[in-house]
Amino acid sequence: MYILAIETSCDETSVSINKDGVAVLSNVISSSSNLFYETGGVVPEVASRKQLEYIIPVCNKALKIAGVDFKDIDYIAVTVGPGLMGSLLVGVTFAKTLSLIFNKPVIPVNHLYGHIYSAFISNYLGENLGTKVSFPIVALVISGGHTDLVYLPDSSSTKYLGGTRDDASGEAFDKVARILKLSNYLGGPKLSNLAATFDINNSKGLKLPRPLIDSDDFDFSFSGLKTAVIKEVGAFEKDEVSYQFEQAVVDVLLYKTNKAFKTYKPSNIVVCGGVSANKAIRSAFIEKFNDKVIFPRFELCTDNAAMIGCAAFFNLKNATFDLDQITPDPSLSLQNLT
Ligand code: KG4
Ligand code: ZN
Repeated sequence: MYILAIETSCDETSVSINKDGVAVLSNVISSSSNLFYETGGVVPEVASRKQLEYIIPVCNKALKIAGVDFKDIDYIAVTVGPGLMGSLLVGVTFAKTLSLIFNKPVIPVNHLYGHIYSAFISNYLGENLGTKVSFPIVALVISGGHTDLVYLPDSSSTKYLGGTRDDASGEAFDKVARILKLSNYLGGPKLSNLAATFDINNSKGLKLPRPLIDSDDFDFSFSGLKTAVIKEVGAFEKDEVSYQFEQAVVDVLLYKTNKAFKTYKPSNIVVCGGVSANKAIRSAFIEKFNDKVIFPRFELCTDNAAMIGCAAFFNLKNATFDLDQITPDPSLSLQNLT
């Protein structure tokens, strides 16, 4: 069974072909992020114009790499939110157009749900990943726009546990990278690379807070951590600030996830979203949860269509020919799921 999946929620234009959901035959990603280093953030109008330009060639390339024709496709999956309205509209309109022309049903997908299912992909471009995720799961979604902790007893129900009250974890990484003048945009990986060079023996004793770590819930807060960095930044070297900031984020994410683990006793923990590519986070979670914790393959951490195709496969019941039901919703969250 073949799913053609489309992801255009932010500044990526991506189309994939998934076979039986969890095998990815092609996953073409075209990003306009290089245009936003000057502005320090996505300019929505520019992003959606680029997506209009890219969507047809990206789709053709995905079909060609997979060696699949439109007539072979069983379902079209598309991200309907959260994201930028103009960007979502490009993907949704394209999906509806394909549905009308080729008479295929459409499966609307919540982008954050897509991140969770990125960890379920077990064959990527012909390579067997050996992944096996079992329900019930606790999922920690850490991306540029979201930080959410959810419990999924099975593939058809979701319990929202908590999330960030202010900045998302990726946003905090990017803002601190900007404060340290490492990068104007998407500086998370640069900050993490610098943190990895820090030698603890050279520490000047910087201490940063672990916001909400003792709160009686599953919520997070990262803006206070960023403010603490601003206060200290002049007095310490950049590598120490990067290291201590990263450690503070790791500690809070690990503590709250462990609390959810102890409460819900899941078979697996899934850590996903752009920030799950972070090596310090990966090693801390592996040390704590061993093989119970599952991360997506690195290329599947940031936005891509393959994860949308995989999430759609676990939600075939949502497939519809009623295209009026498929509408972009920029503020969709994991709380909307039942
Ligand atoms: O999931 P994603 O591609 O986009 C959203 O849906 O938001 O996540 C992008 C975020 C950015 O904030 C980026 O800096 C962060 O993920 N990120 C990282 C790393 N790689 C990507 N943050 C920390 N360490 C990394 N290695
Ligand atoms: Zn994302």
